[in-house]
Parts: sequence; C-alpha cells; structure tokens
Amino acid sequence: MKDRALYLEIVKRLGKAENILDIGCGEGELCNYLAKHTGKRITGLDVSGAGFRKAKRMAHKIKVPNLIECVEGDVGNMVCFEGDEFDAVTMAYTLHHVNEEKKALFEIKRILKPGGRLIVADYVIKKEGQEKECHKFTIMSLEKLFQEAGFHLLESKLLEPDLALLVVKK
Ligand SMILES: C[S@@+](CC[C@H](N)C(=O)[O-])C[C@H]1O[C@@H](n2cnc3c(N)ncnc32)[C@H](O)[C@@H]1O
Repeated sequence: MKDRALYLEIVKRLGKAENILDIGCGEGELCNYLAKHTGKRITGLDVSGAGFRKAKRMAHKIKVPNLIECVEGDVGNMVCFEGDEFDAVTMAYTLHHVNEEKKALFEIKRILKPGGRLIVADYVIKKEGQEKECHKFTIMSLEKLFQEAGFHLLESKLLEPDLALLVVKK
C-alpha cells in the first residue's frame, strides 16, 4: 500500500479531532498530510529530531507551516505533554520500533482526552513464530496489547496481508 493511501485511511478515522499528535513522525510525512487534509493543528513527536528540518521544509512547501510543531521525545515518557491534552493520536509504522510497548500505551492513554482515539498502522505477521525485522505482532497480539492497556477496541482490520490498522478509544 502506498503511504498516501494509508494516510487517507487514517484521516477518515480522525472524526472531529482538533488537537492531534503523530508519534514517530520522522520526516513529517504523515503530519504534513494530516495538516493539509484536516486543517487542524498537528504535533509530531519523535525520539530523534533528525527529520524535523525536512518536516518543516515540507510544511512550508505545502503551505501549512503554522499547523505543524515537532517535538523531540520518547513515547514512553512524554513529560512534554499534559494529561488529557489530545483528541487523537496517530502512529504509523512506529509501534514495532518501541522497546516498551506497554509503557508507551499507558503514556498515550494519559495524554489522550477521555474518549480520544488512538489510530495505529503497523506491520503484522499471520502467526507467532514468523517474526522478522519490522514484523513483530500478529493482529491479535496488537488487539490484546491495547485491551490490556485499558483501551476499547473500535476497529481492527488488515489493509494488506501484512499491514494492520487498529482504532482504539480511551
Ligand atoms: C518507520 S519511522 C515512521 C515514519 C512515519 N510515521 C511515516 O509514516 O512515514 C519510525 C519512527 O519512530 C521513531 N521512534 C522509534 N522509537 C520511538 C520512541 N520510543 N518514541 C518516539 N519515536 C520513536 C523513529 O525515530 C522513527 O522516526
């Protein structure tokens, strides 16, 4: 699936979210796409600030510089954000990079407003034992991870045989 097609699937699931956080924003492709297609304010968080300059350049190019802010930080310890701050959190191709997923999910729950949504797209394997570099979860193990962190599952589907999209609610 082309990234743009995935990003569109994410936009469709943002509902009326005003204040959106994109975790693992990298060079800001999803942040910029979200800003352009929603007109809302997007904060990008990444443990490395290496891609932020490129993200800002793109924001200027597509005329959304005032909608994008990039913040350096670890999803497992988002001291930079208050509790109940965001209406929606997006995470594309990022959860499998995170070492302590449970800690990260509890932090995401803290910074989401009550009823706020977490939209995650990530690689999946069909069954346990097939793990490889970026393919770490089955769709069921992802569902279980979110439910154990106290999220309510709204949607869980395969967009491609190895790409899952999950939407959960605080
Ligand atoms: C494959 S990139 C995702 C790119 C982007 N989301 C997209 O759609 O193109 C994964 C990103 O997650 C970031 N990352 C990894 N561990 C992280 C953590 N603990 N907290 C925040 N970001 C993290 C990496 O620095 C990297 O930029």
